[in-house]
Amino acid sequence: MTTLDYSVPPTVPPVDEILPDEPLLLMGAGPVPVQSRVAAANSMVINHLGSAMSQVVTQVKLLAQYVFQTNSPYVFGVSGPGSAAMEMAITNVVWPGRKVLSIKNGYFSSRFEEMASRVGGENTILEASLNHYIEAEAVEAELKKNQYDVLTIVQGETSNTVFNRQLPEIAALAKKYGVLCVVDAVCTLSTMPLCMDKWGIDVVVTGGQKGLSSVPGVSLIAFSEKAWETIQKREARMSHWCFDTRLAYEFWHNKGYHYTAPVSGLLALHEALRLICIETLPVRFERHLRCSNALQHAIEAMGLGLFVEPQSRLNSVIGINLPESINAEALLARMSERYLVEISGSFGGHIVRIGQMGEQCRSHHLLRVLHALGMSLQSMGAGIDVPAGMAELEKQLLVTTKN
Ligand SMILES: Cc1ncc(COP(=O)(O)O)c(C=O)c1O
Repeated sequence: MTTLDYSVPPTVPPVDEILPDEPLLLMGAGPVPVQSRVAAANSMVINHLGSAMSQVVTQVKLLAQYVFQTNSPYVFGVSGPGSAAMEMAITNVVWPGRKVLSIKNGYFSSRFEEMASRVGGENTILEASLNHYIEAEAVEAELKKNQYDVLTIVQGETSNTVFNRQLPEIAALAKKYGVLCVVDAVCTLSTMPLCMDKWGIDVVVTGGQKGLSSVPGVSLIAFSEKAWETIQKREARMSHWCFDTRLAYEFWHNKGYHYTAPVSGLLALHEALRLICIETLPVRFERHLRCSNALQHAIEAMGLGLFVEPQSRLNSVIGINLPESINAEALLARMSERYLVEISGSFGGHIVRIGQMGEQCRSHHLLRVLHALGMSLQSMGAGIDVPAGMAELEKQLLVTTKN
């Protein structure tokens, strides 16, 4: 270990010297590009307890109710990443002795399970088969066997690009068996339907930097009336002070102080949510589906395979099988260096992932990421057909682009 002489202040280059002259296009699994209004809002600092912030908070809750599709007033911002919102969900509804059924499809659903066991939950893991959505039938079989208090599920497993398409049926089963249903919609919210009230979901969490196309570090959570009542009645001490919903209520509903809110991130989130409301959810869902399908077809036309079969495939993040001879890290580096485009590696498996969330779903971004992927692979010796892929993408976008 080198010894640092901390009596001398260090000199380091400023941030603008670290960053490339031209920003890289973020086409990975998040964060994603943000609109200029969101970036501008994120550059401001205001008083966290002033009247402007109070109006922003009121409006964020209103806008978020539309995005979550809920009438529940129990909507909160969370200072922290998507994982902080997951932790807030778990901390509030799980305590020692609570029985939790954790549906496991991959990396992020395992995180829910770990968080629940850390606060004393008694966990049972229900694992989906590899690269497949969890079947409602399997969930019901487990719910019949044991009485649970809480069920956790991820709508879209960003890690392996699996979409739990039977979430509405599973939420209905949770209701039938008297279990609180906690959903991670970090990757999916506003990219595909999620109807909190209609489907009977009790807690939904999301991050800022994915479907919402805001900045990382400020997240959202919504509780149903039933989840709220459960929290009010709990006697077990809340293990996390920051995530105690009863304390957060002070800031989010009483104009009071809990902790200093991340004002810049909240201003950005406000703008991102407002832009979603202007676009409207149905139009936004259609844009995501259209762009993702076009890209999927084009990747296949290029000669590459997709990791997940269509029935279980997530639209918001696409998993692509790499040819055996290709090193994923080297591919990502080449795409960044030569084409200024970033995509993501994997959490296991010989795949790379391209995001289709929020601002990533624009035709000019699709053309650029596909070109960068194809040209990089070709230059690394993979036998793929770049022109065929590009032509397919253009064809798909022409066929499906309205106006
Ligand atoms: C489905 C899902 N859940 C949770 C998370 C965690 O979010 P964060 O990295 O912001 O903590 C992610 C992040 O990739 C995710 O994709």
